[in-house]
Amino acid sequence: MNTVMPQMARQLAKLVLAAGLVWMGADLASAADAPASAPVKLQGLRGGTPLNQDNPPEGARQERDHGPADRDFVQQPPLIPHTTAGYQITKNYNKCMDCHAWQKTKVSGATKVSVTHFRTREGQELDNISPRRYFCTQCHVPQTDARPLIDNTFQRARGLQ
Ligand code: HEC
Ligand code: HEC
Repeated sequence: MNTVMPQMARQLAKLVLAAGLVWMGADLASAADAPASAPVKLQGLRGGTPLNQDNPPEGARQERDHGPADRDFVQQPPLIPHTTAGYQITKNYNKCMDCHAWQKTKVSGATKVSVTHFRTREGQELDNISPRRYFCTQCHVPQTDARPLIDNTFQRARGLQ
């Protein structure tokens, strides 16, 4: 008897504690649910597709080739104003340099790669493109004609307005 009673009492205490926690949880949840203002309706980019399924791929929305785009700030890597489909950059060959290397621009009409692209990160000037500027698409990207997902108030640098 002496050993059974405290055990039952302890179990009862546990039950009461558990019930209390559940009740507190429900209270918090209902407080969070209570609409302070209009409910926010968020639509994820996946739409309603469950996590274990994939959306069918969308076609790339590459803009038509056009002249160089305006820049938004002076240090901006200029956007690529033409398609880059099939332009490979490998260890042995860089398709971009096929047109953008200084010697090639006479024929291709492309902009010369920037002089800054010949400098190593230690500031040493090389006679060919610096390894840290080799993978062009690490910084330069083509544009897509898409509406911003979220409105913003970004303004072009004053010197470029
Ligand atoms: C077939 C030739 C050709 C190839 C290959 C090529 N480009 Fe170009 N690119 C051009 C031409 C021509 C222009 C200039 C367009 C104009 O002035 O109307 C240009 C413009 C650009 C500009 C804009 C420069 C500015 O001042 O705004 C960037 C950036 C650029 N290309 C990056 C690249 C990158 C990165 C690659 C490789 C993925 C690449 N290009 C491959 C021909 C080429
Ligand atoms: C680490 C980032 C980075 C990489 C990699 C890079 N660029 Fe740039 N690029 C820039 C930035 C930033 C500018 C603008 C400021 C400047 O001129 O340095 C620029 C400018 C340019 C310009 C315009 C030059 C002018 O006179 O207006 C061309 C063309 C260009 N890059 C082509 C290329 C090509 C082709 C490659 C690959 C061989 C390449 N870039 C790799 C960052 C990069």
